[in-house]
Order: sequence, then structure tokens, then C-alpha cells
Amino acid sequence: MSSIFSEVPEAPADAILGISVAYKNDKNPRALNLGDGKPLVLEVVREAERCLLDDPKQDKEYLGQAGVPAFCRGSAKLAFGEDSPVLKEGRNATVQGLSGTGSLRVGAEFLAGFYPGVKQVLIPNPSWANHKAIFEAAGLQTAQYRYYKPATRGLDYEGLLEDLGAAPRGAVVLLHACAHNPTGVDPTREQWAGILDAVRDRGLLPFFDSAYQGFASGDLDGDAASIRMFAEAGLELLLAQSFAKNMGLYGERAGALTVVSADADTSARVESQLKRVIRAMYSNPPRHGAEIVAAILSDPELYARWKAELKGMADRIISMREHLHAALRERGTPGTWDHIQDQIGMFSYTGLTRRQVADCLTAKHHVYMTLDGRISMAGLSPESCKYLAAAIDDAVRNYAD
Ligand SMILES: Cc1ncc(COP(=O)(O)O)c(C=O)c1O
Repeated sequence: MSSIFSEVPEAPADAILGISVAYKNDKNPRALNLGDGKPLVLEVVREAERCLLDDPKQDKEYLGQAGVPAFCRGSAKLAFGEDSPVLKEGRNATVQGLSGTGSLRVGAEFLAGFYPGVKQVLIPNPSWANHKAIFEAAGLQTAQYRYYKPATRGLDYEGLLEDLGAAPRGAVVLLHACAHNPTGVDPTREQWAGILDAVRDRGLLPFFDSAYQGFASGDLDGDAASIRMFAEAGLELLLAQSFAKNMGLYGERAGALTVVSADADTSARVESQLKRVIRAMYSNPPRHGAEIVAAILSDPELYARWKAELKGMADRIISMREHLHAALRERGTPGTWDHIQDQIGMFSYTGLTRRQVADCLTAKHHVYMTLDGRISMAGLSPESCKYLAAAIDDAVRNYAD
């Protein structure tokens, strides 16, 4: 019998999931998976879960559409800072979302329904692959602005300013709050100030994506500096937060969306519409992950333990950067490799070409990574840094395009 769906085309495979499958099928003991992170359950998360289990007040009742109230308050405070005027003046509408992705999606649906400006979202080139899909699924157009300069392996600051300056007035601009994925290249504080001026001059609406707060540098406040700079300048903005990486809550889907408005009255109406968007999409969010986050953010002792564990994770990544950089220098691998140390966050954009990755790193040395040359530093150890450096050295010397 033929199916009414027989004409449905096969969707392209998810690049990251494909890498994990290929890695699992590789029986070579030296095989390395540098596709994505290495989830590990934080001790403080286990402790918070034990507290929740023992709490007789915990039940399985539905949450409201906006999620766990203490989670929303805590998330906003974490991003904007304790003394933020935005929070004091009640200018934030913060709702729980399904991790970073779901929070971006709720924000996109809200903009599609209620943003009176240009319904085009400017996304950095390159960006996390899902950004385009998320905004387009909500019916918004997307375009790119220049971000990364392969020649310097750094920020294309002039190109970025030029593109924002030429954007349609009132368009939305997606900004990675810190630890830009996939490049690991972040603007300096001075460059952020320049971006802020460009955004203000063109009347753009900033939409921050904060998936790595605290995970980038180990400093929760430092990693939120860009968001706070824009908020303190009085701009209206959106913010999607994820607790996947910084609390290791990947599959728990804990995240938050905040819309900052000019006054509390507007903010209350915005919140009512965010709830309506959520109601039609999935009614209300899951409890467990958000209860864990709320417990950690509201208990000073758990909060201090989280900060220490987070710093440990961030420091480990920074130390892997040093190991890999040193191993490449030791081999005298042609080219400059300082970007390995200069880039920020979980990922490093090595600069290797598709051919070098596919034919050399993966096919010959069993190193699994995305074809754009991005590696997850979280998947490395001091020993595997040496193995990886040897593989990179081979690729650079023998597999040039
Ligand atoms: C830049 C960026 N935004 C958002 C996300 C969302 O992740 P999640 O939906 O798991 O919170 C990620 C995850 O890799 C990311 O790198």
C-alpha cells in the first residue's frame, strides 16, 4: 500500500548527532569525540536533587505557563546582576523555557506576533547552526552579518559594524553573550561598546543568546558583561538563557526567556503574551530541571558550591587550550596557533579545512569533529592533546587544499 506520506523527503541528518554515531562505531582505542560537550553531573546538582526528593512540599502538579517562579527570578538575577535597574524597576518579563533552544523559540514566536519593527533577524556568520532554523520556523526572515575573519582567526569587527550599520532600521540582531559558538571569538569590552552604539544608531533590537554564562571564563559576572552593558544603557532587548552547559543540565531542558521593556506596565502585558505563546506550544514547562536550578540559585551554600564547580570546569578547558597549544608549538606545526589559547569557551575553531578534517583527522586519525574545523575542548585530556596535535600536524603538512 502506498503511503499518503510517500513523497516526504528525507531530512538532512543532524551534524553533531552524526558525529557521535560515527565515533561510537569506531573501535579504535585512540578514537576521540570532539563533536560536542562531555556531560557530567555536577555534585551540587546531585545535592540539590537529594534536597528535592526529601522535600515533602514537592509534588508533580503542573507548573503555570511561566514555570517555576523562583527559577525565573533567579535566572534574571544571574544574567542582569543583583542591583540591576531593569529588575528593580520591574522591566523584565522572564519565563521558563525548554532550555536555550526553547527560550529562543518562544522569543521568536513572540516577535513574530508582536514586534512592530522589521521581522528580520541578523545572525552572525558563522553561528550555532540552529539559530536560522529556530527563527525561520517562527516565520521570521534571517540574514547574516560578518563576524569571523579567517585570515586573522579573530573578529571581523569592521565588517560587523558595517553590516549592522547597513541593516534595515528596526531589524533584530542575534548576539552571543559570550563564548561565541562555533568560533570561540568574543568582542572585547571596547568592541562591545562599539556594537552597542551601532545597534542604538540603527534602532536594532538586540536578542542575546546566553548558553555559556560562567562556563566561558569561570566568572559568572564577567560572562554576563555584554548583556549588562546593553541593559544598563537602557536598551530594550531579549535574552535566552540555557543551563545546559553551566549546570550540566543538558537533558533537563532548563532555560529562561527574558524580554526587557521600557516600563513595568508594558512588561506585564508582554509577560501575559509570552504565557499565551507557551500555552499554545506546550502548555507549561517541565519541573525537575528548573527546581534544581532554583534550589541552587536561592541557597547561598549550594550557590557557592556551584560557582566553585563551574570555575573548575572552565579552568579545565582553559588548561586544555594551554596543553594543545604547547603540543603544537613543540612539534613546530606550521602556522600560528595562538588562537587556540585566545578563543573563549567550550569550542575552538582550529582553522582546519573540510578536507583536512574529513580525510586526515577523521579518516586517518579517528578524531571526530565538525567539518568546519570546530573542536570541543571539553572532550580533551592532557594525553589526548598530544595525540590531537600529532593529527593536526599531519593535516597541516600533508593535506593542504
Ligand atoms: C549558542 C547556543 N545557543 C543555544 C544553545 C542551546 O542549547 P540548549 O537548548 O541545549 O540549551 C546552544 C547549545 O549548544 C548554543 O551553543
